[in-house]
Amino acid sequence: MLSFDLERLKQTFETVFEAAPERTFFAPGRINLIGEHTDYNGGHVFPCAITFGTYGLVRKREDNLIRVYSLNFENVGVVSFPVTDESYASAHDWANYVKGVVALLRKDGHDVGGFDFLLAGNIPNGAGLSSSASLELVTAFMINDVYGLKLDKLDLVHLGQRVENDFIGVNSGIMDQFAIGMGKAGHAILLDCDTLHHDYAPIKLDGYDIVIMNTNKRRELADSKYNERRAECDQSLELLKAHFEIDALGQLSVAEFETVAVSLPETLQRRARHAISENERTKLAFTALQDGRLDAFGELMNGSHTSLKDDYEVTGLELDTLVTAAQHADGVIGARMTGAGFGGCAIAIVEKTATPAVIDTVTKTYEETIGYAPTFYIASVGDGAHELVEEEVK
Ligand code: GLA
Repeated sequence: MLSFDLERLKQTFETVFEAAPERTFFAPGRINLIGEHTDYNGGHVFPCAITFGTYGLVRKREDNLIRVYSLNFENVGVVSFPVTDESYASAHDWANYVKGVVALLRKDGHDVGGFDFLLAGNIPNGAGLSSSASLELVTAFMINDVYGLKLDKLDLVHLGQRVENDFIGVNSGIMDQFAIGMGKAGHAILLDCDTLHHDYAPIKLDGYDIVIMNTNKRRELADSKYNERRAECDQSLELLKAHFEIDALGQLSVAEFETVAVSLPETLQRRARHAISENERTKLAFTALQDGRLDAFGELMNGSHTSLKDDYEVTGLELDTLVTAAQHADGVIGARMTGAGFGGCAIAIVEKTATPAVIDTVTKTYEETIGYAPTFYIASVGDGAHELVEEEVK
């Protein structure tokens, strides 16, 4: 994992933009403990922010020019555009996320001017740990502060989601931006995506590691498959409305759903079954973690993965290989994919003393089956997006 020396980042800023940065912001990535593909179905999710994230150093400009540079995409170089340029441009590559934030803020009537912005992230790109939502939110928090817009965190969370939906074209739910904007060190967030009611739960995992296991398979085609799953859920909901007064799948219990499930076409039946059962598992997992019933928590994680594999079909050989190998290893209480799926990362809850051995056996099995190595990180659960104050800048 890349780690950044902020003094060096400041020097790079000066070299690139020929003036010193004024302020530094940070937005984390996220993992989701359980509750996958439930957010856009009005169900529950249980994510947390991690300490890997995106750093953004900024200097306000007096004109209307925006210049951005990312150490993660040095080949793209400095991207410049006037604040009035509100169109998606493929040549602007990653900078479209910054552009999207500016464009939507201005559309909402906010007075946003120019800035120079240097970005550096240590979330592995394309690993499903929300590097794009992190970029959206570091930008949104920065502009909000630098231009004194006085929006609250939740406004910025919604803004990030709108950038993804309306500017980038991925029909994603609210989970990633919520976890990144609202995260709290040492806590996961049980979020009801229907009402946005949320509870912070201390992650009581003393003696255990949350191990992130990266398939190192890029989430290619992920966006179109993602939108396809979402459309299938919408179709299921329309059919279920003939039987229930609901406006989201998350409002149904598994027992209610099963009374009419056979009336749905087979594929839609499985998609809806996942969304509805996953919502129940997520609520149970929250209580299990609160009560310190870690075995029950682990079982629910395993059940989540099976449902994502068989009913939702978003795992694939790489994620299944990692997760099955982890589930069979000594000292693992549960494992599942995290995020959208189709590649990216899985997580496992592992007894600390067993972590090195688990990493070894999972690596061996994965290499034998897939032909290349996975990567592992031990997650630490950090705060949501914020400005970095001097003490943190080491
Ligand atoms: C992606 C999306 C989220 C959520 C997850 C699946 O991370 O951005 O909104 O739908 O997939 O749970």
